[in-house]
Amino acid sequence: MNQSKYPFGEAELTALRQRILSEMSPKRYHHTAAVEDMVVRLATLYCPEEIPALRAAALLHDITKEYDIPTQMALLTEAGQPPVKGEEFAHKTFHARTAALLIPDNYPAFNCETVVNAVRWHTTGREDMTLTEELLYLADYIDDSRLFPDCVRLRSFFWDAHPERMTMEDRLVHLRRTLIMSFDMTMRALLSEGAVISPDTALARNRLVLAELTESHR
Ligand SMILES: [Fe+2]
Ligand SMILES: [Fe+2]
Repeated sequence: MNQSKYPFGEAELTALRQRILSEMSPKRYHHTAAVEDMVVRLATLYCPEEIPALRAAALLHDITKEYDIPTQMALLTEAGQPPVKGEEFAHKTFHARTAALLIPDNYPAFNCETVVNAVRWHTTGREDMTLTEELLYLADYIDDSRLFPDCVRLRSFFWDAHPERMTMEDRLVHLRRTLIMSFDMTMRALLSEGAVISPDTALARNRLVLAELTESHR
């Protein structure tokens, strides 16, 4: 039997898409829809059973991106999660936390761990990311709406290798190498801007690099 493990399906996702469309700017929606398309392409290769959760996570990942910083700060403080030392200067990372915080009350039909965690970690990554967290993170980086040179380069790196023709083992190595490249590009960009680097990003990158080094020395 082909039963989804999630209590939401096509009808709920269509309703969510309509709601999201009415709650954000056309530009943000264009990106959100492109992330949904990309995460479906990625999940088809790695974990088709997670497609419903990843579509929901894609639709929800940037719901607070257009909130101003004081509003985001207020949401974090209200939830008892004010930014920790240094984090108050990493404004770009706030929306992942605030979006994850809003899901249980505002979008209860999609309040499951896979959705909330993929949203929570889509900007910084974290040490020991789950496969679904990795796929939303990557989809957000390489969705077709992104024309920034690093994004174009990473999109080509991933798809030009034809992961669909690989064994699952090779496909997972390819995903890891793509993610390492993305974290390296993010960290280089932050360094060149003199910006704060999230410790979660450094931990995410190091964990993947260590896995790569361990395997190549076997
Ligand atoms: Fe985002
Ligand atoms: Fe995004």
